[in-house]
Amino acid sequence: MRTTIQLRDKQFEILLPQAVIEERIKELAQEISRDYAGTCPIFLAILNGSFLFAAELLKAIPIECEITFLRVASYQATESTGKVTEVLGLKEDITDREVIILEDIIDTGLTMAAIREQLLAQHPKSLAIASLFQKPEALQTPVVIEYLGFELENKFVLGYGLDYDGLGRNLSDLYILCE
Ligand code: IMP
Repeated sequence: MRTTIQLRDKQFEILLPQAVIEERIKELAQEISRDYAGTCPIFLAILNGSFLFAAELLKAIPIECEITFLRVASYQATESTGKVTEVLGLKEDITDREVIILEDIIDTGLTMAAIREQLLAQHPKSLAIASLFQKPEALQTPVVIEYLGFELENKFVLGYGLDYDGLGRNLSDLYILCE
């Protein structure tokens, strides 16, 4: 296991090793399996960042369930409406379904708040959030995370699905930016 890495112009050091991350994911999987026993929830994994979290979590969930993968597009609409976040790729009908969103990290919370609002418009039976990481100090809008892996300090991280300028998603440990 390398303890520091260089990506482009930045140096990162290891924060959480794979074994620690995956142990916590197993705990989340057990909690979710308990809470959703007897239902058939649909997991909506937000690409690209959640692909490793989603894979590891779903392998540890024995109950009947579905999974699908979504993307989020973020763009400036007009000066007055500001930034718009749009959920793309949802073909399944989630009306009256038990829905669990899978996200890699919640930073300001703005992306998740927008995703939630759009999904709620389709009237799911329930809507929960599972996020592997969160930076509580960075939160700009209230977001309730039903299943949270780890709280992190307010610094840039990469690895385990998270990227820096497109790189590093494949790293199996979580790294944090060196000062
Ligand atoms: P938010 O809208 O500020 O909560 O941003 C959420 C998205 O920003 C996440 O899904 C990530 O894709 C990305 N992001 C936020 N913080 C980090 C980080 O420290 N490293 C890599 N990506 C991040």
